[in-house]
Amino acid sequence: MKKIIDTQIIENAETAKNIYRLTVKANMEAQPGQFVQVRLPSNEFTLRRPFGIAAINNEQITMFYRVVGSGTEFLTTCKVGDNINLIAPLGNGFDLDGEKILLVGGGMGLAPLLFAAYKSKSADIFMGGRNSGEVIFWQDEFKNCTDKIFVMTDDGSYGSKGFVTDFLPDNLKSTSYDKILVCGPEIMMRKVAAIAKKFNIPCQVSLEKRMACGLGVCLSCSIDTTNGRKKICKDGPIFNAEEVFYV
Ligand code: FES
Repeated sequence: MKKIIDTQIIENAETAKNIYRLTVKANMEAQPGQFVQVRLPSNEFTLRRPFGIAAINNEQITMFYRVVGSGTEFLTTCKVGDNINLIAPLGNGFDLDGEKILLVGGGMGLAPLLFAAYKSKSADIFMGGRNSGEVIFWQDEFKNCTDKIFVMTDDGSYGSKGFVTDFLPDNLKSTSYDKILVCGPEIMMRKVAAIAKKFNIPCQVSLEKRMACGLGVCLSCSIDTTNGRKKICKDGPIFNAEEVFYV
């Protein structure tokens, strides 16, 4: 059940270049995959920003954001103790049923997968990023909640050189998974979905689109699916891969 929450910032720290961990006080429950609409504490920014939930512990929600524009630039200046307003939790969550799950993520898409890793029985993670700076802090975040961590970077500065999709088929030949959960750039998710289909493994993806309301009202996030028009913010952001990528 979503709530409007007036709360305070507990942590707003840069964990890698231009990537911040934001933790706020909030007494609420959520499923991995659900998200939060954050209102920045300034009248200059009217639209809320959607952030995936990376963890909920001890009445605190943790999210990660990358500095990509004036809103997130402003957010970096907010201090511990500053007031902030959230609507949460929003959207649906991943289906975590299964003994062994493979998580596949790239960039900021790793945030909701972190929450999924903590809540699943057993998970491995395939993570990708542009360079070492983009993946090393994620590796630290995932090390306590996953069995095996596979790291790839585009430039080869850390882990294996290449994309997650280059290495995924070999891993699927040697390890069996009940399902694959994916979050990251759309091109990566489409490729992972196609590989999952080839190996006959159910696959869920987390879609992202610019959201104006985040509440199912404005239709700005509507997409075509095999089951008709759907709103990412309300019917998603988690969809079965074949429903949205027609794999
Ligand atoms: Fe408004 Fe989804 S963002 S309906």
